[in-house]
This record gives sequence, C-alpha cells and structure tokens, in this order.
Amino acid sequence: MRKKVIAGNWKMNKVLSEANQFVDDVAGKVPNSDNVEAIVCAPFPFLATLVEKTKGTSLKVSAQNMHFEDNGAFTGEVSPVMLKDLGVTHVVLGHSERREYFAETDETVNKKAHAAFKHDLTPIVCVGETLEQREANETKGLVESQVKRALDGLSDDQITQTIIAYEPVWAIGTGKTASSEDANEVCSHIRNVVKEITSEAVAEKVVIQYGGSVKPTNVDELLAQSDIDGALVGGASLEAESFLQLVEAGV
Ligand code: G3P
Repeated sequence: MRKKVIAGNWKMNKVLSEANQFVDDVAGKVPNSDNVEAIVCAPFPFLATLVEKTKGTSLKVSAQNMHFEDNGAFTGEVSPVMLKDLGVTHVVLGHSERREYFAETDETVNKKAHAAFKHDLTPIVCVGETLEQREANETKGLVESQVKRALDGLSDDQITQTIIAYEPVWAIGTGKTASSEDANEVCSHIRNVVKEITSEAVAEKVVIQYGGSVKPTNVDELLAQSDIDGALVGGASLEAESFLQLVEAGV
C-alpha cells in the first residue's frame, strides 16, 4: 500500500511572518502516520526557518526549484548543496510555471533529478499537458515523453524514491479540476511508463500525485483513485486549516 503524499506548493506567496504562523498552526497537528506524508514547498527565503521550526514534527520542508550544479557562476540560483545543508528533504522540479516562464526543459529537469539524488534530496517531478495538447489528444504521449526524459539514467532505486506529480496545466489555478477518472487514467499511464522503463515492482511503489485545483471538497474522490497517491496543491495549501484538511484526507 503506497502512502499518500500531500504537498503544498506555496509558489511566490507569503512573507516570513506568515510562513512562521502557518507552521505554528500546522506542524504540531500533522499526524505521525505511515499512511500520509505532509510537505510544504516554500520559497527559498523561508526554508532555513521552516526547517528549524518543523524539527521533531511530521511536516517536511521542500524547495520549489534548484540548480543542477553544486556551485559556480550562476547568479541568483540556489544549489542542491545549499538545500541539503539547510535540512530540506524534497525539491519540486519541472513545475509547469518553471517550464513556461523560466526555460525549464526535460533536459534540465533530468540534470536536476540526478543532482537531487547526489545530495540526498527527494525530487517531486512535475509533468502535464496544456489545454491545446489535451484537445489535440496528445496528453499521454506528452506525459510519457516528459516522464522518460526526466527519469533518464536514474537507477531503479532512485526512481522508486521519486515522486511524480501529474499536473494538467489547464487545471492549475483555474478552479477546473480534472475529473478523478481522467486524472487517474493519466496517472495509471504514468505508472505503466515507469513499469516499462524499470519493473512492475518499482511501478507499484512509485508515488504519483495529482495537482491542479485540488481542494478539501474534491481531494477524497481523487485520493480514492487506484493510481493517485497524493496531491500537489497550490491555492488550497496556503491556509493552515485547508492544508490540514487535505492532509487528514490522506490518513
Ligand atoms: O504545484 C501545484 C500547483 O500547480 C497547483 O495549483 O492552485 O491549482 O492547486 P492549484
């Protein structure tokens, strides 16, 4: 039985005092359960404080991106070495907003995935189609390509540890949630792609999340699907009570 992984992607929101208040309101209430893992994906300026404040709790802290080099002349970038040194456990890679606005590619996502494992960080690899691609019936082919290229060269063990987040771009921030059946169909296809490139045993273990307008009102139906093992949540993760409801749904 795969655990449910509920991750809140704060994107470019909050200030430090609000981040601290969120953790004060949430961290102690996250259940210590083998069934669910709760993660906040916070902006870089908050990470050190949030790691410190969540010590001894079940709430994990993730970055929303990172560079693939350990160090160097990359002004403005953050390295995996820095994230590991802070005590961050996860890192979101290839979010559609990074792909759209900041030239993230399948190739850089793959380099970052390798760098994440080099520094003992768990990657949350985002894939998903645009509305145009869905309407052109290109979803499965696109997502298959993104998964294969993101995971290229990783060992079976590393792929087993990778969290894959299926986020249809047209459902992000729009209030248009994919139907649980459609979301599950794509997540099932992703699992089959993982099986194709590794083994049935690895495919059965890998955690696949859905993201795109997940809320407390629709999370139960999504998590009840056979191949959806959690959620990567934007707007509904910003408020403590809403995030806790999402985590409780995974227990
Ligand atoms: O990474 C999660 C995010 O893209 C989903 O955003 O606001 O649709 O839950 P939202």
